[in-house]
Amino acid sequence: MDVSVAPNASAGAWLGLDNAAVLIAGAGGIGRGLIEGFADVGARVVTVDGDAGRVRAAVEELELERRGGHGLVGDLRDPDRARKIVAETHERLGRLDVFIHAVGMNDRRPILDYTDEDWRTFIDVNLNSAFWLGQAAGKIMCAQGSGRQIYFSSVAGSLAHKHHGPYAASKGAINQMMRVMANEWANSGVTVNALAPGYIETPLTAEHLKKPGVRPALEALVPAGRLGVVEDVVGPALFLASRHAAFVTGHIMYVDGGRTLI
Ligand SMILES: NC(=O)c1ccc[n+]([C@@H]2O[C@H](COP(=O)([O-])OP(=O)(O)OC[C@H]3O[C@@H](n4cnc5c(N)ncnc54)[C@H](O)[C@@H]3O)[C@@H](O)[C@H]2O)c1
Repeated sequence: MDVSVAPNASAGAWLGLDNAAVLIAGAGGIGRGLIEGFADVGARVVTVDGDAGRVRAAVEELELERRGGHGLVGDLRDPDRARKIVAETHERLGRLDVFIHAVGMNDRRPILDYTDEDWRTFIDVNLNSAFWLGQAAGKIMCAQGSGRQIYFSSVAGSLAHKHHGPYAASKGAINQMMRVMANEWANSGVTVNALAPGYIETPLTAEHLKKPGVRPALEALVPAGRLGVVEDVVGPALFLASRHAAFVTGHIMYVDGGRTLI
């Protein structure tokens, strides 16, 4: 199946995402694909990232402002900045239907090599930013009586890969934070789910995949016989954000070609 075919406006109406107010944190490899996927089905997308160049590229290349969206730059390790971003997005779009957390970092080292500062940075970027943004978005969505939240977990949230200590810890914590949010907000019409990809080809994994022997070794672990591409996660995110997923909450959906089956 060709997963590169862009969805369109009639798909947006079918999904219930036409004109939806969407905040996507993270304009990296996966974030960029999500911004494009949601904008292509007619959603108004605000994106935020700490990298001004990535935000600018998304805004300009995808013509976000013409499509009712906007780009913001901010360091999401700062709780006040994160809360202001959610408030500004809400003010601009008039409501907040979907929040997606696709911010993250990884750095593969043995546990014994991480410093205190490294640990804190991982937890701030991968976990705390999700809490600051998700809590602020949750307040708006619960008051609104509807909303969808999607967090990027990873297969590392359940598997104990070597050299993934703080990354795996942050993703396991994302899973549990998501499940408690899902439980607490279910009777307010807000669903909360996680997408847990295996290796997806993005800037996050590019350097690691260039090392000798890494790519074939990783491909051999995937029953589907290949690594993922960004488009593999866009469809599942559109589904979880859509009107068809109103009764789906608290799930960790693996997008890994079967990696976690074996
Ligand atoms: N690519 C994969 O193989 C893969 C696999 C499983 C899970 N994930 C998860 O998916 C999400 C997106 O990953 P990606 O592949 O797009 O990574 P990426 O590195 O391409 O993008 C991550 C983005 O987060 C931004 N960011 C980092 N720290 C920030 C901060 N303090 N404030 C604001 N922005 C900040 C970066 O600028 C970058 O644009 C992450 O949570 C990642 O852990 C990715």
